[in-house]
Amino acid sequence: MSGPGPRIALMYTRLRTEERLLLDALEAEGARVIPIDLREVVFDPADPGDWAGYDVVLDRSVSLTCSLAAVRILEGLGVRCVNPARAIETCSDKLATTIALIRAGVPTPVVRVGVSDRSGLEAVEAIGYPAVVKPTVGSWGRLVARVNDRDAAEAVIEHRATLGSPQQGVFYVQEHVDKPGRDIRVFVVGGEAVAAIARSSAHWVTNTARGAAATGLDLTPELRDLSERAVDAVGADVAAVDLLECPRRGPLVNELNHSMEFRNSIDTTGVDIPGFVARHTLRIAERVRAVGGVPA
Ligand SMILES: Nc1ncnc2c1ncn2[C@@H]1O[C@H](COP(=O)(O)OP(=O)(O)O)[C@@H](O)[C@H]1O
Ligand SMILES: [Mg+2]
Repeated sequence: MSGPGPRIALMYTRLRTEERLLLDALEAEGARVIPIDLREVVFDPADPGDWAGYDVVLDRSVSLTCSLAAVRILEGLGVRCVNPARAIETCSDKLATTIALIRAGVPTPVVRVGVSDRSGLEAVEAIGYPAVVKPTVGSWGRLVARVNDRDAAEAVIEHRATLGSPQQGVFYVQEHVDKPGRDIRVFVVGGEAVAAIARSSAHWVTNTARGAAATGLDLTPELRDLSERAVDAVGADVAAVDLLECPRRGPLVNELNHSMEFRNSIDTTGVDIPGFVARHTLRIAERVRAVGGVPA
């Protein structure tokens, strides 16, 4: 692994359409890109071995736990990863995201947290009804619950406390944002908002994984600014920012996704999202090279 041209490893656990599009885009931009199945790797945290031959590792593994393990080791070995471990840690944890957004002054829904059944219920009551209770780690809308009264809150909390993993014992409660039947997703690459979609559904949970329809959306200066600040707050190179439009306070940043799916957003928006990701990854690779292999 020597000679000219940036060298990129694309780390995956499943080669979905997204990963194939990224491989093609990286190659089209002139990178030498090697797909690496994370499940086949044995890492030595003391020895970079072949990993030293890559300028950047683009992490696209589906499993958050595996992703984080690998990226932590690679960063420890001095390998620049997209996204960095700090960004993955923050984006994958809704509470960590809330903390980062609050610290950065980015508007986000009001949250209360309790770590026992009793304080969990008090957190819901402090928010008022309807409230939204969700696991701090999760995706695709799973276990996101809207509770309309105290009976429902007690039931959700008891179920989580009894049936859930210890992680479900942290009750993360959000105000319910009375959004107009949709939420907004902004794709941010290299600090720049490049595309946006609206995800609309008759159901209040508007994940496309749950059947919501996506349409392209024009990026307003406000959406751009909020999304770029949100991504900066979590330290991500690439992320999708989800916003809820509050009738009173305007768009609020709900969460960020560090390893976003985008296959259905390319035609919808007319934006070559994998091309943007590839070009930014190569920019990072150039910076790594310019400083002699030290992560930039
Ligand atoms: N506080 C809220 N107010 C209104 N709708 C919400 C709220 N939280 C979540 N939703 C809806 O539920 C969906 C899933 O919630 P989200 O926090 O994004 O969890 P996930 O990580 O599972 O996607 C959102 O896209 C949105 O449509
Ligand atoms: Mg979401």
